[in-house]
Amino acid sequence: MAEPLLIEIHNATIWRGTTCVFENFDLAIARHERVAILGPNGSGKTTLLKTINGELHPVARENSWVRILGRDDWNVWDLRRRIGIVSHDLHSRYTPTATALEVVVSGFFSSIGVHGLLIERVTDEQRKRANNTLKLLGIESLRNTPLRSMSTGQQRRCLLGRALVHEPDTLILDEPTAGLDFAASFDYLARIRQLAASGCNIVLVTHNLNEIPPEIERVVILKAGAVVADGDKSAVLTGEILSSVYETAILVARTNDYFLAYPG
Ligand SMILES: Nc1ncnc2c1ncn2[C@@H]1O[C@H](COP(=O)(O)OP(=O)(O)OP(=O)(O)O)[C@@H](O)[C@H]1O
Ligand SMILES: [Mg+2]
Repeated sequence: MAEPLLIEIHNATIWRGTTCVFENFDLAIARHERVAILGPNGSGKTTLLKTINGELHPVARENSWVRILGRDDWNVWDLRRRIGIVSHDLHSRYTPTATALEVVVSGFFSSIGVHGLLIERVTDEQRKRANNTLKLLGIESLRNTPLRSMSTGQQRRCLLGRALVHEPDTLILDEPTAGLDFAASFDYLARIRQLAASGCNIVLVTHNLNEIPPEIERVVILKAGAVVADGDKSAVLTGEILSSVYETAILVARTNDYFLAYPG
């Protein structure tokens, strides 16, 4: 049997509140792929990631489906063990008093926030793995530090830790470096590159071309809920395509497998 796809969206209609974001939408991402999703504000990128993560569902109707890892009937708890996610949305839902350790272990409970009782439910094995993850991300000294006393970059590392604590084979990143300085975002990207090199399935949403690591080979561009470009990075990231999508003159430079956009 063929390996199931990470996501297979066929003819799907997906609403966000009162907004119909996708209509008759099709997209497939295989398990081995590393994909960057680009597109103007409001084009549907976060909605797509939430669909891959099982947070949003399509309208149920004939000849329309969203299959995640080959199934359309995931129990969200099981799915969260397979997919790690980092997003601003998730970040903003943590209370400022949550410590690095609490944020990381919350990944085991698929919970968003953390509450006082949680830490007592943690097994020794989970605690050991959480501590290893903190070490891996270079934030073990922040173990008992509350989020409110950390820099944005440190908070973001805690969130990456939460996503990684299960050692998921898929990582979904929604603008993971937003608000980080050069050092923090390059450090973050280096960690993502390591994960990509170790075979992790990665779907990254970003607005910065220079933050697409060389390991990401495929780029999908969304506009108003439709795929307007999809293919090999070097074929999609051209001045012509980006200028047309963003309706502004954009030039693209390329150095050492990195891309950079600047005004045309
Ligand atoms: N909670 C919500 N309720 C209603 N409509 C929403 C909600 N969240 C997003 N939308 C709408 O859905 C559409 C797609 O939003 P989405 O967040 O997926 O865009 P995006 O591509 O991630 O944009 P950005 O680059 O700004 O993050 C937009 O028109 C937006 O206004
Ligand atoms: Mg978004």
